[in-house]
Amino acid sequence: MPAITLTTLQSLKQKGEKITMLTCYDATFAHACNEAGVEVLLVGDSLGMVLQGHDSTLPVTTAEMAYHTACVKRGNSDALILADLPFMANATLEQTMNNSAMLMQAGAHMVKVEGQLWLAESIRLLAERGVPVCAHMGLTPQAVNILGGYKVQGRNENQARQMRADAISLEQAGASMLLLECVPSELAAEISQAVKIPVIGIGAGSDTDGQVLVLHDMLGLSITGRVPKFVKNFMQGQDSIQSALKAYVNEVKGVTFPGIEHGFSA
Ligand code: KIV
Repeated sequence: MPAITLTTLQSLKQKGEKITMLTCYDATFAHACNEAGVEVLLVGDSLGMVLQGHDSTLPVTTAEMAYHTACVKRGNSDALILADLPFMANATLEQTMNNSAMLMQAGAHMVKVEGQLWLAESIRLLAERGVPVCAHMGLTPQAVNILGGYKVQGRNENQARQMRADAISLEQAGASMLLLECVPSELAAEISQAVKIPVIGIGAGSDTDGQVLVLHDMLGLSITGRVPKFVKNFMQGQDSIQSALKAYVNEVKGVTFPGIEHGFSA
């Protein structure tokens, strides 16, 4: 597969072909995801939960994110690497620039930041300085203590209107991608239509421009035994991790995943 760039993702959106993304934290899985045709590897701060065993993503540091980004880069040949700025790494504009530089120098092609409209200024500054940004909206796990839990966002009309408006403003500020987590499927579809940049969903229905899942979740691995509604175990019916990864790619591309049962209503 030729190297995936922002231009590739943009043209997949224009063609109506779904974009495949999975979280990835090391070199071996980066290679396995390449073999399966996963287009974007997300070095997510979910590593704080699935690798480090914390009960939230808050303890993860930028140094840890840079370490895992470098591991993924070494195993990757052609996917686009997206790395998370962890909790409070973008608390000030200066921190945002310095921490994004660390992730890009470790091998990321794009950084992801969680939040809403307040992200606009940092997105503009990063984009001007050559750093593509994905804005993670809806359920933003770094704000779990403000949100009062891992809850679906945008269910009432005011919240939905605000999210639509923020998405457009962040695109105008220079965001290259949006990620919507746990938002009603209808709202996610509207936002995906309203912006030109690719919109990736997790728990956001099938009408976004692409899908992402946490690698461990889709391989049926869990410490707590609690499986979110939007997760599908792709190991079921497969005899290897490699074939489960391929099944994920095929189902996202074929729009058979996510099903209606994996989404949320308003
Ligand atoms: O950190 C992460 O893995 C994420 C996904 C849940 C989208 O942000």
